[in-house]
Amino acid sequence: AAAEKDGYPSFMEKEIHDQPEAVLQTLLGRSDIDGRLTLDEMRIDPEELKKIDKIIVLACGTSAYAGHVAKYAIETWCRIPTEVELAHEFRYREPIITPTTLVVSLSQSGETMDTLMAVRYAREQGARTMAICNTNGSTIPRESDAVLYTHAGPEIAVASTKAFLAQIVAAYLLGLYLAQLRGNKFQGEIKDILADLNKIPAKIQSVLDNADPIRELARSMKDADSVLFLGRHVGFPVALEGALKLKEIAYIHAEGFAAGELKHGPIALIEEGQPVFIVVPSPRGRDSLHAKVVSNIQEVRARGARTFVIAEEGDEAVKAYAEEVFFIPETQPLLAPLLATVPLQIFAAALAGAKGYDVDQPRNLAKSVTVE
Ligand code: G6P
Repeated sequence: AAAEKDGYPSFMEKEIHDQPEAVLQTLLGRSDIDGRLTLDEMRIDPEELKKIDKIIVLACGTSAYAGHVAKYAIETWCRIPTEVELAHEFRYREPIITPTTLVVSLSQSGETMDTLMAVRYAREQGARTMAICNTNGSTIPRESDAVLYTHAGPEIAVASTKAFLAQIVAAYLLGLYLAQLRGNKFQGEIKDILADLNKIPAKIQSVLDNADPIRELARSMKDADSVLFLGRHVGFPVALEGALKLKEIAYIHAEGFAAGELKHGPIALIEEGQPVFIVVPSPRGRDSLHAKVVSNIQEVRARGARTFVIAEEGDEAVKAYAEEVFFIPETQPLLAPLLATVPLQIFAAALAGAKGYDVDQPRNLAKSVTVE
């Protein structure tokens, strides 16, 4: 088994390091040199896809956070209203589904019962269904109208890492494909976004190559009993995922919040020594989001929090209020989650390892939950 881990202490660590390849493989062969998306495996008639006027993304756990990230990109690029819902909640309200609704499921295993039941329900209600899945021939893709496989390779660790990044990439390809079909974006813009996506594997590699400080921080925090994560825009689901990882494998109470929500409640939690991770949007992004999140760092720091910041390389403004900054390479704001998530995964794995826990097989959890 040690050989299968390529020398890493756990499958999770190995899979974190597989991520440049997982993203590369998921991008491979899905566009031509002119930046035209060629998603040949899609089994839905392009004419039908042109008419889609609503997208509902269904998933559980980490896969649902990939859906939340994807919503920002799909709505930006396609101008199609997109909802994200936990699959197990979906059937129990009265969701509005029409033949022009596209239901996109995200599942690493393709066997999660909650997600499968939601997909079945959506089909019965007349939706077109599409699976984004990492497991060839599994049940959810078999029962869907279309499938877009992520090519992350088999994921063994219960806590999902490379499948998460690959799901975001696949959902982005779907978004670009719909934008191309519907003429929402110029071919030139699609080509530019694809070119930036193609640069992501090397940028993930650089995050991995510079991860020793975050591992060191994790080891120093093994007695922490609560860690908070803040993010905004696409950084919000990244914060949620950072918190989930810590709960899952290090059994530490962790919460992710939308940074803008801080003043509406969560700031009451801040006391001397409370560790807070802040995922900072790019200073090149729009609407002064960056400045707002920087002021959030200031606010929690002023109340005694220990502030650990994930920010874009060259972002000097964050330094004044951060106990430590972990820089990620520059990319366009919508692609940043593919980089910002990685230090948080490494943090959780290193912390769980430092506590002596079984990183790959956390208590009470299963890789794939095939019961409702
Ligand atoms: C389980 C796993 C999670 C995973 C979720 C969804 O709860 O422990 O890590 O995110 O299922 O799995 P799926 O295979 O549908 O992506």
